[in-house]
Amino acid sequence: MLLIKNVTLVDASGKRGPADVLIGEGKILSLDGGEAETVIDGTGLFLAPGFLDLHAHLREPGQEVKEELATGLLAAVRGGYTDVVSMPNTTPPVDTPEAVRALKKKAHALSLARLHPAAALTQGQEGKALTEAGLLKEAGASLLTDDGHTNEDAGILAAGLLQASAFGLPVAVHAEDASLRRGGVMNDGPLADLLGLPGNPKEAEAARIARDLEVLRYAVRRSPTRPHLHIQHLSTKRGLELIREAKKAGLPVTAEATPHHLTLTEEALKSFDPILKVAPPLRTQEDLEALIEGLLDGTLDAIATDHAPHTQAEKEMDLLRAPFGIPSLEVAFPLLYTELHLKRGFPLKRLVELFTDGPRSILGLKPIHLEEGAEASLVLLDPKERPVEPRNFASKARFSPWAGWVLGGWPVLTLVEGQVVHQALE
Ligand code: DOR
Repeated sequence: MLLIKNVTLVDASGKRGPADVLIGEGKILSLDGGEAETVIDGTGLFLAPGFLDLHAHLREPGQEVKEELATGLLAAVRGGYTDVVSMPNTTPPVDTPEAVRALKKKAHALSLARLHPAAALTQGQEGKALTEAGLLKEAGASLLTDDGHTNEDAGILAAGLLQASAFGLPVAVHAEDASLRRGGVMNDGPLADLLGLPGNPKEAEAARIARDLEVLRYAVRRSPTRPHLHIQHLSTKRGLELIREAKKAGLPVTAEATPHHLTLTEEALKSFDPILKVAPPLRTQEDLEALIEGLLDGTLDAIATDHAPHTQAEKEMDLLRAPFGIPSLEVAFPLLYTELHLKRGFPLKRLVELFTDGPRSILGLKPIHLEEGAEASLVLLDPKERPVEPRNFASKARFSPWAGWVLGGWPVLTLVEGQVVHQALE
């Protein structure tokens, strides 16, 4: 038994307490204390439901030089995540039930965060032939996506939505039009021109979202079940407006935004630092403000990391050659707690919802409320500030655009079904 005394509770229904939280048998047994072998003083700390990341590149199988399940899932629990969706753009891509089962088995043996592998929508993520949604679901796939690649063939996407919906699986899309994006390495516009770097226009995202929403409309019309389209790593104001309109019209679409698109803009590229090279690219302040508005009004359902580790050597190449991606599992919550909640007054309860019930509902998981009988998959957060130190990351990608930023809200204890999977209490 574990007792966390005098701790403030925060979940999607709000902030309350302090309470004395007794944990045993994988559950919250009481909010009024009780006998326990281990007692933690929670004074000044927050207890929240464990976070779910809808979008992490854990690189297994085949790219273990960048990350592996052991390091990625350790990074996750250090970041307060109890549940992680791994992306299938691995080598080879995760496109068979056997591959999904192998990942689940390996992750289970690690006893860190729980893994919910995403599987490819198309075989080899080549965009030509669909994978077997039913068998993938049975093996434990949480959603289908060709993330990392764009779905150029609208007909395949439509067929994929129809097939996936028959098995209750969401289809997640990396919404960029490849023919507009071309070789862009940063946001297209005057700054890219000034820096002499090839631009990736915001219209590449908006055009693809507009098309995908029409594909969804068609799938909804033709399907007896309800297709679910999820738009990944939204980066533009226009894309957000399209999703807002679609939601108003009742289309079953959900969307996520990343820590980097919510805290950084194209201005950072003036440093020419390849760490900042990401797809879709960092945009403008106007886009960033629109995304925050979208988090508030429900156009965006979740904050997802798009944790994308690469080797130091790869990220030390020049901007044109370095791969796309920013690692963020270990800093996502402190970053947004500090930059959105503390600095901009973004409501803590909504922020926590965007890390918990928001992403959970996309996978069809029940919300977690901190009450007696609730599953004890929890995170204890410390508002005390300290700087981001990438050299101490559990992730193999020990670099960060937020290195040196001073943040509060660090996870100091993470529990999965009552088991301690991360502990950094002083
Ligand atoms: O920046 C990105 N990195 N965007 C993606 O879509 C893929 C990801 C990766 O796999 O590195």
